[in-house]
Amino acid sequence: MGVRDRFSAGLARQLGHPSGPAGRLVARMLNKGNSQAVHGAVEAADPQPGQSVADFGFGGGVGLRPLLDRVGPSGHVHGVEIADTMLSGARRRFAAELGDGRLQVHSGDLTALPLADDSLDAAITTNTIYFVEDLARAFAEVARVVRPGGRFVVGIGDPEEMRKYPFTAHGFRLRPVDEVVELLRAAGFADATRQRVGDSDGAFHLLVAERAGRDQ
Ligand SMILES: C[S@@+](CC[C@H](N)C(=O)[O-])C[C@H]1O[C@@H](n2cnc3c(N)ncnc32)[C@H](O)[C@@H]1O
Repeated sequence: MGVRDRFSAGLARQLGHPSGPAGRLVARMLNKGNSQAVHGAVEAADPQPGQSVADFGFGGGVGLRPLLDRVGPSGHVHGVEIADTMLSGARRRFAAELGDGRLQVHSGDLTALPLADDSLDAAITTNTIYFVEDLARAFAEVARVVRPGGRFVVGIGDPEEMRKYPFTAHGFRLRPVDEVVELLRAAGFADATRQRVGDSDGAFHLLVAERAGRDQ
């Protein structure tokens, strides 16, 4: 493997599981580069004051602040992450919100969420599903923890656009948007509407889905 390939493979690994000093650097990069897309996902989830909401795979935590702002002092935000470096970063950055109980960060996986059934009013996950092999299982888990009528927003880069970045050749699962929508539907999220963040052909996708009732 050449130097370029090694760099791409290392970057892909860090994006999927940021760790150590390089992971902290990646977290800063993610917060900057993904800010508009993640804020778009929060807007689309439309959290209300007093609600309980979550960001799965929050990375550098760029989604946690707008979620906290939207649910206000009587609401609750859960962040779930597999990466210890991201968890410790959030514990440092959000010490006050963790202290007053408005935010909880959990070590956990999208395919086995450490949250109770029907405990969330809304949830987002952005730029994470490229790293999830069993997406049907992950979406079934999200359907378990989001209450009927609650919203789930999945944010993904456009697969064709993503394919242009050499690092995505190293293990990224770039699923067609239709396939992700179908998996959402199969998991119990009816009528995923599609939004874009930006006007270009390669603009970021937001899939905004509502949890169907238990008997649907
Ligand atoms: C590319 S970063 C995106 C971070 C943030 N959501 C954003 O859009 O900037 C992917 C994040 O998802 C986390 N992640 C990957 N697989 C995960 C899984 N199965 N469950 C929970 N988090 C996961 C990684 O640790 C990493 O922090």
